[in-house]
Amino acid sequence: MKHHFKMPAFASAIVLATALASAPVHAAGGGIEIERQDWSFSGPLGLFDRAQLQRGFQVYKEVCSGCHSINRVRFRNLVEKGGPEFPEEAVKELAAGWDYQIDAGPNDDGELVDDDGEFFTRSPLLSDAIPGPYKNDKQAQAAQNGALPPDLSLITKARNTDYTGPVWFHPIHMLKDIVTAYQEGGADYLYALLTGYSSQAPAYKRDNKGKLLPVKEDDVGSDTVERCATVTHEHDEGKKDVCTPMQEGMNYNAAFAGHQIAMAGPLSDEGVDYKEDASGKPVAPLTTDQYSRDVTAFLAWAADPSHDQRKRMGWLVMLYLLITTVLLYYAKKSIWKRLKKH
Ligand code: HEC
Repeated sequence: MKHHFKMPAFASAIVLATALASAPVHAAGGGIEIERQDWSFSGPLGLFDRAQLQRGFQVYKEVCSGCHSINRVRFRNLVEKGGPEFPEEAVKELAAGWDYQIDAGPNDDGELVDDDGEFFTRSPLLSDAIPGPYKNDKQAQAAQNGALPPDLSLITKARNTDYTGPVWFHPIHMLKDIVTAYQEGGADYLYALLTGYSSQAPAYKRDNKGKLLPVKEDDVGSDTVERCATVTHEHDEGKKDVCTPMQEGMNYNAAFAGHQIAMAGPLSDEGVDYKEDASGKPVAPLTTDQYSRDVTAFLAWAADPSHDQRKRMGWLVMLYLLITTVLLYYAKKSIWKRLKKH
């Protein structure tokens, strides 16, 4: 009889996975394959690495904060447990010297003479949300050629990766992700975005049927090639492939949907100076790759500040359930022992 139980369970798992798989997910990838990275916070046991969060904040502050806000993060969050855990005094100082001011007012310091109801700006305090560079979206767009740099507080939750493998494998892939508790799609995308820039779009050559064939950068030489952000293959007989060239002012990015992004590659090697350890070497490599990993970890924390606490609590709950199971088992045994005697 036993195997009768297993079939419906297996069948419903497949149905669930298929349903999940077909649910619309906002994927920024646009059908682009994004490589998965090894994060300290991956998997059911993974936690954030404090030192990495601190470096990531430094990258945000020195590079990204010039264009992007993180207005859901307050200065005091940078001190709290589970985050970068900077010392409170250091963050107070950081807030006081922050590049952007807080709108405040009307003035009311108790001295009637000077209290004229004026609005003013002041330096942020620990309790303030970290102020971004622009007052509103319009101002941001005006400064960025019409493109809007999104607030980065929740970006690792707002983005994901697309499944690009064969359709028949999708349910199995989904099940595997459920079992391994994979939820770093947003972080994987962000890392791919930050490291996915190239100075030009890929090169193609047309064959005599009008098909566009990719040409390796080393083989371009003096040949005339077409540079295409995307290529649309036409399956109809006699129709030529369509090459979408780069638009003026856009940057080629392998991870971004459509491969044309208004943001220029923000990171470059040695662009941020990490502090030095006792031997005088930087605490982490000064490379685009390392900066991208660190700022991504920081933004993953910003989007999920109670992540570490939740995972620790999860394990405590499992332990509690395990102990309760053992206790209940022995309780049941001893009760039935007594009942059987009569
Ligand atoms: C000089 C300004 C500038 C800087 C500096 C900058 N960005 Fe951007 N960023 C933009 C603009 C503008 C866009 C909108 C691009 C678009 O819509 O094509 C953008 C878009 C983005 C997006 C959204 C991509 C998507 O999937 O829609 C992310 C994520 C991002 N930036 C992350 C960062 C990070 C992380 C840093 C720091 C390492 C950074 N940016 C630095 C201007 C900037």
